[in-house]
Amino acid sequence: MPQNQPKVYLETHGCQMNVRDTETILGLLEGRGWEFTSEPAAADLILVNTCSVRERGEQKTFSELGKYRLLKSDNPRLLVGMAGCVAQQVGAEALARVKGLDFVIGTHNIHELPDVIDERRRTGSPVVRANFSYDDAKVFQAPVRPSERKVTAFVNVSIGCDHKCTYCIVPMTRGSEMSRRSGEILAEIRGLAEAGIREVTLLGQNVNSYGKQIAGELSFGELVRHVARIDGIERIRFTTSHPVDVKRDLVEAMASEPKLMPHVHLPVQSGSNAVLRRMKREYTRERYLEVVRWFREARPEVSITTDIIVGFPGETDEDFGMTMSLLEEVRFDSMFSFAYSPRPGTPALKLDGEIDPGLVNERLIRLQKRGNEIADEFLSAYVGRTVPVLFEGASRQSGSELMGRTPENVAVNVPAPDCRIGRLAAVKITRKMTHTLRGDLPSAGAAAA
Ligand code: SAH
Ligand code: SF4
Ligand code: F3S
Repeated sequence: MPQNQPKVYLETHGCQMNVRDTETILGLLEGRGWEFTSEPAAADLILVNTCSVRERGEQKTFSELGKYRLLKSDNPRLLVGMAGCVAQQVGAEALARVKGLDFVIGTHNIHELPDVIDERRRTGSPVVRANFSYDDAKVFQAPVRPSERKVTAFVNVSIGCDHKCTYCIVPMTRGSEMSRRSGEILAEIRGLAEAGIREVTLLGQNVNSYGKQIAGELSFGELVRHVARIDGIERIRFTTSHPVDVKRDLVEAMASEPKLMPHVHLPVQSGSNAVLRRMKREYTRERYLEVVRWFREARPEVSITTDIIVGFPGETDEDFGMTMSLLEEVRFDSMFSFAYSPRPGTPALKLDGEIDPGLVNERLIRLQKRGNEIADEFLSAYVGRTVPVLFEGASRQSGSELMGRTPENVAVNVPAPDCRIGRLAAVKITRKMTHTLRGDLPSAGAAAA
């Protein structure tokens, strides 16, 4: 390998959309002779793929970039760039906020990265590309991925969001919703299957409203069924679903399509109808519970996970109590919970009833404590059972172990040889860890010998 290969250090914040975009970046750069490094100080390009969903994350991003550009004193060739949702949101303003920032690249411009790097080197001036484009040939342009992806893959089915939740900045950072043509999605997945990928996660900010912008396009449930017919693909997942866009065809696919994994991430945000109304979530607590019931009737073992916002403007003790009682009623297998964070340009900024931060914190702690207990019970129930696990690669904890996932998407670490990567195995679960499981192959003795 040549010594002078340029090196890129990439950092990814936020959701799977960003994870997927980072992979595109890696794939693009890899194809041009770049090499990945996990050491910022060794890099010729440091790129932070940012998230602006909450204020604290945005602030951290700016201070991090400020720190990274100091490395330029040791490496004059170093470029520092900002990608992702903050980049899209602030555009050229980022240059004023981070001295020495070399470029800003928005969420619809990822494919222009090699161009942006060239332009920066050629002109010596900072480059800003952060404009939405709704030309699908451009936005969904030939998906590139890094060579390290071997078993599982994210596949974009749509981008953007047409909902208008009053707290949320995502419609501003990712634009209006736009579906990709099913023919292209299926062709991509066929290619992935031929390359050895066994599991795909269909990605969209609001994945289950897939197809609504294209006349005559498949519905999301139909798309899932088509993916399930592709030889080699053994597992299908999807994220994220909006409760109002869950249609019967998806529920029916959950009932009848064994390749569709029994897990639905279904953000609820609050258990109180008054709060849901102010958030403009477009459903009630009752309707949410009905959707959960549909999935559970279709697939009794389905795992339901969620996102919750605490301390939304005007949230009373009673409203919060309704969120606590919803947690008991649904028993979410895992949950992400956040303190409400006011975001620029969002309608919720105009709402009265700011909640005292101390009280928000108290509520958050109560919710998380109970949420963790329920999640713990869910994980404990695995111990002693034998479950099908798809091995994805080396475990992060120990090089001699593999990491795989249960159908419900729980990570399991197992002492197993590398030849098992990409294969499904029956794993006997032996222990519950904090968020993961440990298990053994029934033939562990033989495999180790
Ligand atoms: N498209 C997805 C996820 C959007 S962002 C969806 O509709 O569910 C991921 C999560 O961040 C949201 O589910 C919400 O719980 C949280 N979030 C979004 N905006 C927020 C804000 N202003 N303050 C706190 N949490 C927020
Ligand atoms: Fe944000 Fe709501 Fe769209 Fe999700 S559905 S991305 S929370 S506006
Ligand atoms: Fe964050 Fe953008 Fe995802 S704001 S949550 S990275 S869509």
